[in-house]
Amino acid sequence: MKVLTSILTLFFALIISVLCVGQTADRPTDYLPSDFHKERRQALRDEMPENSVAVFFSNPIRNRSNDVNFVYHQDPDFYYLTGHREPHSVLLIFKEEQNLIKTTLNEILFVRAHHALKELYDGARLGKEGAMERLGFQIALEGPDFKKFPIDFSRFDKVLFYDFKNDVRQTKEKADLYDLIEVFKEKINYPDQSPVLKIEPKKNNLDVTSLNMIMSRLRGIKKPEELTLLRRAVNISAIGQREVMKAMRPGMSEAEIQSLHEYVYKIYQAEYEGYPSIVGAGHNGCVLHYIDNYKPSVENGELILMDLGAEYHGYTADVTRTIPVNGKFTKEQKTIYDLVYKAQEAAIEICREGTPFKKLYAATAMVINEGLVELGLYKSTDSTDIINPETGRNRYYPHGCCHHIGLDVHDKGEYDILKANMVITIEPGIYIPEGSPADKKWWNIPVRIEDDFLVTEEGCELLSDMAPRKSDEIEALMDAPSPFDAIEMPDIDNNK
Ligand code: GLY
Ligand code: MN
Ligand code: MN
Repeated sequence: MKVLTSILTLFFALIISVLCVGQTADRPTDYLPSDFHKERRQALRDEMPENSVAVFFSNPIRNRSNDVNFVYHQDPDFYYLTGHREPHSVLLIFKEEQNLIKTTLNEILFVRAHHALKELYDGARLGKEGAMERLGFQIALEGPDFKKFPIDFSRFDKVLFYDFKNDVRQTKEKADLYDLIEVFKEKINYPDQSPVLKIEPKKNNLDVTSLNMIMSRLRGIKKPEELTLLRRAVNISAIGQREVMKAMRPGMSEAEIQSLHEYVYKIYQAEYEGYPSIVGAGHNGCVLHYIDNYKPSVENGELILMDLGAEYHGYTADVTRTIPVNGKFTKEQKTIYDLVYKAQEAAIEICREGTPFKKLYAATAMVINEGLVELGLYKSTDSTDIINPETGRNRYYPHGCCHHIGLDVHDKGEYDILKANMVITIEPGIYIPEGSPADKKWWNIPVRIEDDFLVTEEGCELLSDMAPRKSDEIEALMDAPSPFDAIEMPDIDNNK
């Protein structure tokens, strides 16, 4: 029996190592290196209060339906600090060195244990050895070890973590995320009610607010390794916009147009879209986060708003172009387009280290409001003439203009003063839906121009410049031939 067990163990070890070797050989070589994540853990440690421990959990697996899950996406903080892309994991970072499990350590990662059958279906897991070797952790253990890990959280002045949303399902996996959270709650004596601090601020050492501030400070300023990946994600997205400008013609479906962008992303090995792609023609473009993309045939004379971002090794771009389906802006479309362009230019002009974030929005809103008064769409720039009482927002420019991008499309970062090496969007827009209190000639004109910028001491660098922004440059490019012009598919409706 013992011999049989040993043979089986050896056999599974062999399968796993073959799978691991195969997958390692095929992996891209430009992921963030383990040293990057290690240095980021130290940067976090430097910001933590004395005698504290920070605890991070991986993202949950989300079920799509029946036995099919959504593609797994790691929690961005967890990824930033570990480079680990697997679920059911927990990370502990200590401010000071600890003497635990007969060694001295200041961090520890708990990861999924190997499981031959599951790895047969889903691919190799790193396991604790892989986590130490590939992610550069001095100590990594398996999920089930967390329960017996001899740590007394009560002796820390602060236990930093994100409060739980109670939306994690139990799975069949041993020591899954659900179990890890339960074990942690038990270990910290988590109160019955949440949020923790608001109930008994003085009676415990649990801190569910500081971590977000620290992580926002860290993640908001991009390191050179991150900038390399972000530049690539932005370039890929801008090339997608360029290629679609050349390929666009009336009669395509919104979904087909979306697919051309995403095809370009895959050519450049961007793994995902950083958020669901927004491709809206005519009035669909007036829905700010329109992701249905269901219109079967975009029409001659319509504008189409395309807000998409490639995600490359975790980092996402966020680029919007609005173009005429037939290649030529009408007079009214061009008027609105050029006004949005002018608003974006006004923000670009003042975008540099030291500028308050809110001044960027103010610069765009001033141009748009004054421009719309001149065109007769607003009576005046008084808020009573601009604000739509039903939404409480500027009627035709109802959203903000700028946010950080990075591991999230709306990335963590500080939003008071611009600092060098922040990467942000500038994205003014004007949307005039049918039924608006404006002359009908303006109806169904949606325009957003969104670009990504690296903030510097002297100004800001436009990263998405591979996609034309000016109305006449867009029209000129739309005249060019496209490799997609040659694509023909069989007709499945008329059995041809
Ligand atoms: N793509 C979402 C946004 O522009 O913020
Ligand atoms: Mn955006
Ligand atoms: Mn966007």
